[in-house]
Amino acid sequence: MFPDISDRIFNEDCITGMARHVPDASIDLVITDPPFGIEFQAKRGNYNRKGNRVLDGYSEVKGGDYLEFTRAWLAQVRRVLKPEGSLYIFSGWNYLKDLLIVLDEQRFTLVNHLIWKYQFGLVTTRKYVTSHYHILFAGIDEKKRRFYPYARYDKDERSGNGGSAHYRDKEDVWNIPREYWNGDVKTPTKLPAEIIRKILAYSSQPGDLVLDPFLGSGQVAVVSQLEGRRYLGFEIVPAYFTFAQQRLQSGDYRLKAED
Ligand SMILES: C[S@@+](CC[C@H](N)C(=O)[O-])C[C@H]1O[C@@H](n2cnc3c(N)ncnc32)[C@H](O)[C@@H]1O
Repeated sequence: MFPDISDRIFNEDCITGMARHVPDASIDLVITDPPFGIEFQAKRGNYNRKGNRVLDGYSEVKGGDYLEFTRAWLAQVRRVLKPEGSLYIFSGWNYLKDLLIVLDEQRFTLVNHLIWKYQFGLVTTRKYVTSHYHILFAGIDEKKRRFYPYARYDKDERSGNGGSAHYRDKEDVWNIPREYWNGDVKTPTKLPAEIIRKILAYSSQPGDLVLDPFLGSGQVAVVSQLEGRRYLGFEIVPAYFTFAQQRLQSGDYRLKAED
């Protein structure tokens, strides 16, 4: 018998944590941005001259283990997701193939391959600037999967140029800027609230249970709370977990750094 998991986050490895705490077919929506699996180092100085605003930590996965790691956490997600539920995974291109292989192995149905275009690329001189992320949108049962096509724009609403607003909003390239939290505590890889809000609107309803196995700063849980959804999440780095918990408990979206 599992205790109630609504509106809880755990400072645990999500693979063993999901097995321990989350019942089968109990989750309506998973939104997650797993570790990159590349030699990413959250070096304070890279992000902010006043380094103390960027929290230390970030747990990375070594290259050769990435496929096995992906199999392990996605097997748990497959078990806990309801047949009518949805899954959104953010990924850079480096380990995209591992995610696609495992989604196929575990018989998820790939619904859309979304592109998130952002303005963040590092300047390059010998290659192109990376300015997009992949978002894999998948489900389990295509007949049951829930989707709310007019959640953000009515059927007849027009966009600025006179076209259909809901059509434009549902195109598979999303142009959403990152958030810069000047002067506040932050982690190096947080998602913008707008992108989470958009996914919540199209793939969940108020009261639904939203899981993020890799919480980081807690963005998915925090925005789910703001939008009237129940949340559940895991984060392995204690400083990130504490930051996410403070945000959820205070109801403050941003926390002031102590100088
Ligand atoms: C790309 S970040 C997530 C960022 C998050 N979406 C946000 O908006 O802040 C991935 C997070 O997964 C955490 N992590 C890595 N391995 C983990 C594991 N096995 N279980 C739980 N969390 C893990 C990392 O410490 C990191 O904070």
